[in-house]
Amino acid sequence: MKTRMNFKKSTAGALIVMLIFAALLTGCGDNGEENNSDVDMPTVGIVQIVEHPSLDTIRASILTQLAEEGFVDGETITVDYQSAQNEQANLKPICQKFASNNYDLIIAISTPAAQAALGETTEIPIIFSAVTDPLSAKILTNLDTPGGNITGTSDAVSAEMIMDLAREITPDIQTIGALYNSSEINSVSVIEDLRKYAQTNGLSVVEAPVMNSSEVKQSATFLAGKCDAVFSPIDNTVASTMPIISQTLNDAGVPFYVGADSMVNDGGLATYGINYTILGQETGKMAAQVLNGTDPGTIPVLTIKDVKIYINKNTAAQIGVTFPQAVLDNATVLGE
Ligand code: TRP
Repeated sequence: MKTRMNFKKSTAGALIVMLIFAALLTGCGDNGEENNSDVDMPTVGIVQIVEHPSLDTIRASILTQLAEEGFVDGETITVDYQSAQNEQANLKPICQKFASNNYDLIIAISTPAAQAALGETTEIPIIFSAVTDPLSAKILTNLDTPGGNITGTSDAVSAEMIMDLAREITPDIQTIGALYNSSEINSVSVIEDLRKYAQTNGLSVVEAPVMNSSEVKQSATFLAGKCDAVFSPIDNTVASTMPIISQTLNDAGVPFYVGADSMVNDGGLATYGINYTILGQETGKMAAQVLNGTDPGTIPVLTIKDVKIYINKNTAAQIGVTFPQAVLDNATVLGE
């Protein structure tokens, strides 16, 4: 990685010397300067699986942080932002383009985006953002010393903490529905924890995995008829179709526990979640470090551990749930 950038810099250096020489010879200074600034401006490719409020918050926060560190889109860096629009198949051509254009840095927001980026290059530095379980996703094998060309931030959540909260709010839960996209590893690993939790606590889990966003309404309806509550992890397919799902479950009077604050804001009942603006800032700091020449393989993965309770009082009112005082005392209220 280092060698690659140094090589690039020295190539750029050689080019500048040649241009100045040519300018001196032809007496044409302007041309030389134009080319000079083109050569110096790094290009950053940002790839995101889909646009939903949480991922958009993360991206905005990364760009703000980069600007604070002197990397301003259109001034000191060029940003090429691409969304795969919830189609995993779109990720490959996006990342192929980033790789074949030999961009200086790829920022991959979400697990599917990070997996796709890594699939296209082992050379270009990649900073991932909000990858729930980088090990299960096989993005790297060591969180402290990633090696290779990739590192980033994780938003690991605890199914156990969210389920404990769920049982504090609605103690009569016996059967819990699991609504998630089974092709998102970020969700699969949290659902595995949910199954273990259920087994330990004598609950049963009914699963209605989907393959894409067109299936979510049917799954939500199915689970509403079978479960005391429904749980969705930090699933991108669910997050991008929250209005339909929360309306279905709220109309049926079924408590819907979710994996992220944005999903509470979009009609879910409650979660224990992290702050994605902070996660974006930390991702932006890593991206700036790499643009300044640090090898990503030497930067440990940062897992945001500080979680807070988020609740939606409108949803609670609609389904007839009253939050216990202990929850209210510690919760941030969203969706108002
Ligand atoms: N953690 C998710 C992933 O690994 C991405 C994500 C971030 C997300 N914030 C979210 C998903 C909020 C759903 C809701 O892909």
